[in-house]
Amino acid sequence: MDLPQQTIELDDLTLRRFDSEADLPELFRVIEESSEHLRPWMAWVDGHSLAKTADFLARRAERWATGEEFTYAIVLNGAIVGACQLFRRDDAPDNGREIGYWLHPVATGRGVATRAARALVAQAFRLPGVDYVEVVHDPANRASGAVPARLGFTEHLRRPAERLAPAQTGEDRIWRLTRQQANTQTTEAC
Ligand SMILES: CC(C)(COP(=O)(O)OP(=O)(O)OC[C@H]1O[C@@H](n2cnc3c(N)ncnc32)[C@H](O)[C@@H]1OP(=O)(O)O)[C@@H](O)C(=O)NCCC(=O)NCCS
Repeated sequence: MDLPQQTIELDDLTLRRFDSEADLPELFRVIEESSEHLRPWMAWVDGHSLAKTADFLARRAERWATGEEFTYAIVLNGAIVGACQLFRRDDAPDNGREIGYWLHPVATGRGVATRAARALVAQAFRLPGVDYVEVVHDPANRASGAVPARLGFTEHLRRPAERLAPAQTGEDRIWRLTRQQANTQTTEAC
């Protein structure tokens, strides 16, 4: 099975696979400190607990092993400041992948999510058979939508969505970047 890199170094930023045991206390604290910032958009924050974080990490390890989802700690100057993942939804075609991300509020406003997402796009297109990458967010979540916009994604479609978190509007906005578009960007940058 082809797998993405386990560690991606980006100057002061590192994306690395979570260690289920060693990262538990730090990740729990980071989520705790970020909960008010995440709650409007991320339903999983409710009921946050050490046991839930441990379960989250254990499931990430399982899903990495099966190739369903690759979740990375976003580490800035040695400290975990968020997480990002490359995954395929159960109902999505084989040739598509999705990217998700969240940050501790202290790490926002510096391009961290954009740099992390750019790195995950590169990993996605290293996987054979992947033709496009998507970012799905609530249209009211402008900070989230600005990330794919900066990376050259274009709006692909909108679809009704379940309102799971308090600020969600009941719609998903889906951005897409194809392999061909990504290759064009790389050529233009040379
Ligand atoms: C979504 C989320 C990760 C976006 O964070 P963000 O800080 O806005 O995004 P980035 O880390 O890419 O930073 C972008 C900002 O840094 C600036 N920046 C500085 N250096 C930059 C660089 N090298 N590259 C890109 N942007 C840079 C940008 O201008 C932008 O500033 P602005 O917000 O004033 O326009 C954050 O808002 C979050 O954690 N939200 C809650 C969780 C969530 O909604 N997750 C997504 C669910 S779909």
